[in-house]
Amino acid sequence: MHPMLNIAVKAARRAGNIINRATRNLDIVAFKEKAANDFVSEVDREAEQAIIRTLRDAYPDHSILAEESGASGASDYQWVIDPLDGTTNFIHGFPQYAVAIALRHKGVVTQAVVYDPGRNDLFTSSRGRGAYLNDQRIRVSKRNQLKSSLIGTGFPFRQLEHLDVYLAILRDMMKGAAGVRRAGSAALDLAYVAAGKLDGFWEFGLSPWDMAAGALLITEAGGLVGDLAGENNYLKTGNIIAGNPKIFVELLRAITPHLSPALQRG
Ligand code: IPD
Ligand code: CA
Ligand code: CA
Repeated sequence: MHPMLNIAVKAARRAGNIINRATRNLDIVAFKEKAANDFVSEVDREAEQAIIRTLRDAYPDHSILAEESGASGASDYQWVIDPLDGTTNFIHGFPQYAVAIALRHKGVVTQAVVYDPGRNDLFTSSRGRGAYLNDQRIRVSKRNQLKSSLIGTGFPFRQLEHLDVYLAILRDMMKGAAGVRRAGSAALDLAYVAAGKLDGFWEFGLSPWDMAAGALLITEAGGLVGDLAGENNYLKTGNIIAGNPKIFVELLRAITPHLSPALQRG
């Protein structure tokens, strides 16, 4: 395993232990609403600090972009961290959430970990070396038609201005696909696309820490990831489409006609 990936795995497992310990007594976990329907708990913060400490011990010069504590440092290497992706699920004891850690080198994601602590599922990838679930190589699914595909998504609950466009797409997807799932952890949804458990995924308004790790898993598993123009700017625009190569194209074809001018830019 690449040494930097090894450190990222160590950090993700530490965060996972903190999360698992907290699930034994969810009633005492304190949380607050950052914005409407957007929660942060003390577990998010504790997990994030454990990750940052682990990364800093190994690589004191690297910079950090973490969901709860923001950006720090200046380096060609930047760790992009979501300590707990799926906080709303976590708070409710709905077992679908993950730790996501990615490393960017000069802007290019080179290492990725998505760790589901409840199932002890560890998704990892180093650029150019494939993607893995635990010790098994994973690949995107081979399904080539939308009508037989299971598609993941997330609701635009922060950008309600996109709701009508989103609902029109959802309507088409419910009619056109075998099934649509909103599981509540974008990082884990993307890891599921990499592992072929979902055939495709789309969501608007995500942050880099939701997407960076999962996107590398998908491309290393043979899939495609893009923004709404099918280009590579999803970490900037926050809008993402992903899938096996055939379903990626199908999703793009299904979504494009609905886009508002604001979303057409990618
Ligand atoms: C959220 C989850 C969710 C997605 C939201 C994200 P958080 O992350 O990934 O699936 O729909 O947009 O913000 O806030 O739980 O880390
Ligand atoms: Ca997140
Ligand atoms: Ca989070």
